[in-house]
Amino acid sequence: MEFSKSLINWYLHNKRDLPWRKTPQPYPVWLSEIMLQQTRVAQGLPYFLKFIDAFPTVHDMAAAPEEQVLKLWQGLGYYSRARNLHATAKQVAFDMGGNFPDSYSGLLQLKGVGDYTAAAIASISYGEAVPVVDGNVYRVLSRVFGVETDISSSGAKKEFTALAASLMPHKQASAFNQAMMEFGALQCVPKNPDCSICIFNRDCVAFLTGKVSQLPVKLKK
Ligand code: ADE
Repeated sequence: MEFSKSLINWYLHNKRDLPWRKTPQPYPVWLSEIMLQQTRVAQGLPYFLKFIDAFPTVHDMAAAPEEQVLKLWQGLGYYSRARNLHATAKQVAFDMGGNFPDSYSGLLQLKGVGDYTAAAIASISYGEAVPVVDGNVYRVLSRVFGVETDISSSGAKKEFTALAASLMPHKQASAFNQAMMEFGALQCVPKNPDCSICIFNRDCVAFLTGKVSQLPVKLKK
């Protein structure tokens, strides 16, 4: 609880002003989260703005030819993401009346939407208490709590998901998940984090034991 309170407080003072944070509707949140897989915010942001301009609603994206979607995606890489994006837009627009499923389990049924994206949309748009687990979350939790589980091992996701769920204040799922991602992106960065200014430097197991550069443990590349 102390961890979550401090983290969310840090987030409220340090979060970036990102367009999908203003009105956390499922469509922009979904679009941003698909774009930000394997992509940094600085790289993804111009694409997000381009897409929202071209396709203000999921109906606009669904009605566009696939070539237009792929063309706008050019430069972001991992083109299967763009094809899944368009397929999902059509599914939501044509089969669901333009409404995204209203729960984590419903969102998981969408093409190209896995645990991470479903949890991001469900928490950010609906306040559902499901933790997101991505590279940022592995890094923050492994360091602060000194978890030495290999993140490429089969049980890692379950273990970190359970830890994140135990820390999440159920009424602040959106802030907590975004705070974890933002803290990993801005403060608890992969290489040479500036622990001297970190809010957790009195408690962080990795910092106190000199293991920051060794965590998270990732055995296979
Ligand atoms: N990376 C992926 N999703 C993000 C989000 N919602 N906020 C910050 N960084 C992210």
